[in-house]
Amino acid sequence: MLQVVNVHKKYGSLEVLKGIDLLINAGEVVSIVGASGAGKSTLLHILGTLDSTDTGEVLFDGKNISRMNATDLARFRNKHIGFIFQFHNLLPEFTALENASLPGYLAGRPEREVREQAANLLGMLNLAHRMHHKPSELSGGEQQRTAVARALINSPRIIFADEPSGNLDSHNAQELHEIFFRLRSEFNQTFVIVTHNEQLATMADRTLVMKDGLIVQEAVK
Ligand SMILES: Nc1ncnc2c1ncn2[C@@H]1O[C@H](COP(=O)(O)OP(=O)(O)OP(=O)(O)O)[C@@H](O)[C@H]1O
Ligand SMILES: [Mg+2]
Repeated sequence: MLQVVNVHKKYGSLEVLKGIDLLINAGEVVSIVGASGAGKSTLLHILGTLDSTDTGEVLFDGKNISRMNATDLARFRNKHIGFIFQFHNLLPEFTALENASLPGYLAGRPEREVREQAANLLGMLNLAHRMHHKPSELSGGEQQRTAVARALINSPRIIFADEPSGNLDSHNAQELHEIFFRLRSEFNQTFVIVTHNEQLATMADRTLVMKDGLIVQEAVK
């Protein structure tokens, strides 16, 4: 589904990615681990079309997304890609339901359909009773589950998560991790997850270890 060919990236004179090759199949949960500064977030942003490569290609179902223009890319991202970050990035003035719905509205989908789907997703994530509350009124785990609903709203082909449980206590972290694997078994949802959480990394089908801008090791379960 997602193919990365010889991707290089520099910030100024700093070579952050030094030739990354990678293949992600539908329904896989792949974790990426490595020391701080290894290039994990940079790679994830490039895979998620939030950042561009210097050289190399990112192919999505064979389509070269490294060459798409900004407008097409934004549309593509909204439709096919979900993101979950360490900090939930929910909009403070909107409720959980509205936050989860936003990418659906941006996609131009009918309002009612989006709201219904958002409510269903929030219900599935045990947030039915909290969906009319704003982020400041939600616990850390609830905020992050709202971010999961937002990531799922347009039924993306792939979800990229950057240290999704980095800000959660171990109980909420475990609950979030279980949600990822439930989504995979129920919907064949594909995930690429950057994590410092060893438990999550070892739950994944494959773990890629990054060091100094390269994937230096791959552990398959
Ligand atoms: N926009 C940027 N401009 C300049 N340098 C950057 C930029 N983004 C990242 N870097 C540098 O690139 C290197 C890799 O950063 P990256 O965020 O990918 O690391 P990481 O593996 O995600 O680390 P962490 O585990 O701390 O999140 C770091 O040295 C970082 O300082
Ligand atoms: Mg990072």
